[in-house]
Amino acid sequence: MELFHIQRKVEVSLEEAGLSNIIVGLDIGTANIRVVIGEISEDKKLLITGIGTSVSTGLRNGLIVNIEATVQSIKKAVEAAELMAGQEVENCYTAIGGDQIESLISKGIVAITSKGRGSREITESDIDRVIEAAKAVNIPLDRQILHVVPRSYIVDGQKGFKNPINMLGVRLEAEACIFTSSGTSMQNFLRCATRAGYQINGVMLKTLAIAQAVLTEDEKELGSLIIDLGAGTTDALVFSDGSPLCAVSVPAGGIHVTNDISLVKGVSFETAEKIKKTNGCCWESLVDKEDVIIIPGIAGNAPREISRKEIAIIIQSRVEEILEMLIKKMPQQAKKQELNGSVILSGGGALMTGITELAIHIFKTENVRIARPGNYGGLVEKYRSPEFATAIGLLVENKQNLENSVVDNSHKKRKSEKSSLSVVKNFFNEFF
Ligand SMILES: Nc1ncnc2c1ncn2[C@@H]1O[C@H](COP(=O)(O)OP(=O)(O)OP(=O)(O)O)[C@@H](O)[C@H]1O
Ligand SMILES: [Mg+2]
Repeated sequence: MELFHIQRKVEVSLEEAGLSNIIVGLDIGTANIRVVIGEISEDKKLLITGIGTSVSTGLRNGLIVNIEATVQSIKKAVEAAELMAGQEVENCYTAIGGDQIESLISKGIVAITSKGRGSREITESDIDRVIEAAKAVNIPLDRQILHVVPRSYIVDGQKGFKNPINMLGVRLEAEACIFTSSGTSMQNFLRCATRAGYQINGVMLKTLAIAQAVLTEDEKELGSLIIDLGAGTTDALVFSDGSPLCAVSVPAGGIHVTNDISLVKGVSFETAEKIKKTNGCCWESLVDKEDVIIIPGIAGNAPREISRKEIAIIIQSRVEEILEMLIKKMPQQAKKQELNGSVILSGGGALMTGITELAIHIFKTENVRIARPGNYGGLVEKYRSPEFATAIGLLVENKQNLENSVVDNSHKKRKSEKSSLSVVKNFFNEFF
């Protein structure tokens, strides 16, 4: 099929196209706000030039509950990144997640006829029409479409086409995965960033951004699962046959693990958090039953000994519960999906000792790995941590979008696939 397609590729640099070569990713989380500034070099490489983080206090379970606190945290994180990069940030890309996100598989069908007489070649506008038809599902007024990702096409009943352009046919069907977000939640994210003084150029599903940062094409084809173990939410995205199948989320994360330690062991939240990060483990058989943690006594009391095994049991039972809840929430089609690719763990929770072992046990596969974003040079490799996968993914996705927008290419990426950019423009028109 591709043999008949003659590609005309006239490349223009970002500068010549009047576009900035600076991209900024802003990850607004329940515990942390992370900003990464990237620069696209002349040879089209992404270089990380600035990183900023701040403690986040205005969110609960991944959603903004205090605008002013979030605005202040965003400013702090952006200013730290600006200082490092030696340049001012004006606009950025951000991501959204949590259990308010919904996904569904939708189908569209259109006729391809040449003046009413038989078949003709499928064109890009037919693809646009069939995706529009797939989008025609009942979505409540208070929800906003975040992405429409085509999964596959059927031409005259023949299944499994990834790109049917130039095929002959009379009937084109498409299967697409649609992600929607609560309009209010998205509005709050955008409002916080604009109040902090930064324009939002695009919003993306968090787990889709992580996939862009760390998932290979082979893993997408073979069936993979991205899990973002955050502080207030645990989000998952299932991939099959090369594209996303569904997103699910549980409104619980690292904060709940720390709360459990604090309650069961009668220590403050801060002490429990310290114990979890420095001595925690979520696969108790990795811990020797003689191991103890010594915590300083409070109000003049003597220091206390706590069994590390007991801490591991507390952590394991909570993380296990969260992961099992994720599986329960998955639609049947995703539950049946074989994970011949990988289970990829990201977010701060992926730094927990024993998390790989626990995931191997829960998801019954040996192919479990921690999300480590690629090497983008420039800075010390601080960003090569699962905590930065969302922010880095925003850069990777939008670098591609920027490059696509300056390439005069007859084989351009279709509009429907560039949804992260278009969503925000529509959204701003609606609300501002
Ligand atoms: N070394 C570690 N061991 C165990 N847990 C850790 C470690 N480092 C960080 N965490 C936990 O990771 C969580 C923070 O992760 P992250 O920064 O990804 O969350 P977030 O993006 O702010 O939240 P969310 O995505 O839920 O909105 C905290 O609960 C923290 O305790
Ligand atoms: Mg997060």
